[in-house]
Amino acid sequence: MRPQLILLGAPGTGKGTQAKNIVESFGYNHISTGDLLRNEIAKDSELGQKVKGIMDRGDLVNDQVILELLNANCDIGDTAYIFDGFPRNIEQVKLLETEVLKGSASRAIFFDIDLEVLIERISNRRIAPKSGEIYNLISRPPKVPGKCDISGEDLIHRKDDNEETVRNRLEVFKSTIAPILEYYEEKGSLVRIDASKSAVEVFTLVEAAVNN
Ligand code: AP5
Repeated sequence: MRPQLILLGAPGTGKGTQAKNIVESFGYNHISTGDLLRNEIAKDSELGQKVKGIMDRGDLVNDQVILELLNANCDIGDTAYIFDGFPRNIEQVKLLETEVLKGSASRAIFFDIDLEVLIERISNRRIAPKSGEIYNLISRPPKVPGKCDISGEDLIHRKDDNEETVRNRLEVFKSTIAPILEYYEEKGSLVRIDASKSAVEVFTLVEAAVNN
């Protein structure tokens, strides 16, 4: 069976953009913990109400909550998944190994980039909630301003994509990423890619990482 893919990287590095490309080219199932949480908020579920403030601040949601959400939405069996936005700390790495993957092989792809460029990238991001398309006013503008090319729906600016929250999300990333990278490096399953290149060039690197 193909290894499970784990996309690691700071907010705005292009994990969601490349996950969509991987799904289209390789047929993986995409699971984004951020999307699952945003769905809960959109439904105004009890969980959504609980996590809304945490996400608006850019802090991490409790590990156990994330694990329950993942287990409710993915069943490894013989399915190959892309984990996007999980694990976020070393405790989640351990939960992923023991409670989700349970021995299934995995490969971690780290989207490496100078964090300074990310604030601009994220502030120019617009998303289409229904189609899941991800736009950027500079690098991937929609054909009609404010509308999704695929569904025609209105594009939105994520609530946590404001500068203050993005700065906190980057701080959270900086304080949690080192032991995660160390873990996958020691395991021999870490591939680092240069995420500062164009989205097309990054996908060439991602393809090589998936095929190797
Ligand atoms: P989440 O939704 O996971 O957000 P994130 O990790 O901060 O990542 P983003 O979605 O911001 O960025 P991305 O890397 O997917 O970039 P994208 O492809 O969109 O998490 C949100 C929140 O949920 C967290 O803060 C936390 O509160 C909570 N949460 C989620 N998971 C959790 C967990 N496991 N544990 C605890 N809490 C959790 O690209 C960004 C922009 O750049 C787009 O406009 C795109 O068009 C553009 N772009 C992409 N690639 C390129 C390129 N190569 N060149 C130029 N522009 C590009």
